[in-house]
Amino acid sequence: MNAVDLIIAKRDGHELGGEQIDWFISGITAGRIPAEQAAALLMAIVWRGMTGRELAAWTAAMIGSGHRLDLSSLERPTVDKHSTGGVGDKVSLVLCPLMAACGAAVPQLSGRGLGHTGGTLDKMEAISGWRAELNHEQFLAQLHEVGAVITAATADLVPADRILYALRDVTGTVASIPLIAASIMSKKIAEGTSGLVLDVKFGSGAFLPDPAEGEMLARTMVELGRSHGVDTVALITDMDQPLGRTAGNALEVTEAVETLAGGGPADLVEVTLALAQEMISLADLDTDPTEVLASGRAMDTWQAMVTAQGGNPEAPLPIAPVVDHWKSPTGGVIDRIDALAVGVAAWRLGAGRVHKEDGVSAVAGVRLRRVCGDRVAAGEVIAELHTDNPSRLAAAHEALSSALTISETTPSRRQLVTARIV
Ligand code: URA
Repeated sequence: MNAVDLIIAKRDGHELGGEQIDWFISGITAGRIPAEQAAALLMAIVWRGMTGRELAAWTAAMIGSGHRLDLSSLERPTVDKHSTGGVGDKVSLVLCPLMAACGAAVPQLSGRGLGHTGGTLDKMEAISGWRAELNHEQFLAQLHEVGAVITAATADLVPADRILYALRDVTGTVASIPLIAASIMSKKIAEGTSGLVLDVKFGSGAFLPDPAEGEMLARTMVELGRSHGVDTVALITDMDQPLGRTAGNALEVTEAVETLAGGGPADLVEVTLALAQEMISLADLDTDPTEVLASGRAMDTWQAMVTAQGGNPEAPLPIAPVVDHWKSPTGGVIDRIDALAVGVAAWRLGAGRVHKEDGVSAVAGVRLRRVCGDRVAAGEVIAELHTDNPSRLAAAHEALSSALTISETTPSRRQLVTARIV
């Protein structure tokens, strides 16, 4: 076989065979296929799409490129959640301990943020001493003992995705529903969970802003999960405005802990409980997550999971030395605060990275003092801008310059969960 034949076949709209796909994925994993040929094939896939058979073969080959975890020794049912990412999306920090407190084992392999969307590992690393890397034995031991783990994927879990994703990132080939679905689902299937709930976001702060595209991605992923024996359900949720009131690592951990303590913003609680309800059904548990959240048991599990990974749940979270204000130019009722603009502002303040290898600031980010539906006066503070570097403030203000929509009437209630795909 040779890569040029595969590229030409795909370019001209022909279906690739299973053997060709296996050959390509094992070749890219072993470093036998040069980046330029892999990139050309990826672009042909972006352009031409994939048939159902190709997608199934591609995903299976990705899973087979590495180690598949075996969680069958656990007594609890395993169920995980994946979000396609957004601004202020700290749901995992609440949901993972909540579901463990409900009786499930939650094996969350998470990632770092890139661009305007935050990453769960970056958030957790704002906690003093917490470490993201666990080996397989530590991962399994924590699942047995605590029932909840948030950790980085090990290098041997779908190594083909690590290579392909890095290439897609620099060749304009991320935005392809089959490539995204295979990338996400291969990792979730290889992680060994029995049940999976997908939170597929739409709106300005989402990876795919168009809800119809989000639904298409959700259907593709649900089907892939099912065909690999993972019971999968997706919720389509609104990411047109930030989730909760904070975007930025330590700020989001603080808000997640407030939620575990029984408070927290209503939208964050609503989305978390909607996902929890789906996970409860998949895991066949007879528990009320609302009651478990109110009881404080999820907070106990949070403290245990943070401690198990070297973190100190009692240590105060770091605070930004510089806090500036973003003010409303006019009076009225807030109709919308654009999620993308808030995400970009948090990123410019230092919460996110430009390149994969960059570090992030734990303290940087945006805390909204006012949200959609609130009445504000001209000059009133809408948000605090937190940073450890005052030279970053101007770029954050610029990102927010047209983020606010003010009207005279109270907006209708936002529907946060707009569809359920099974
Ligand atoms: N997240 C992933 O893991 N893969 C993609 O392709 C896109 C988002």
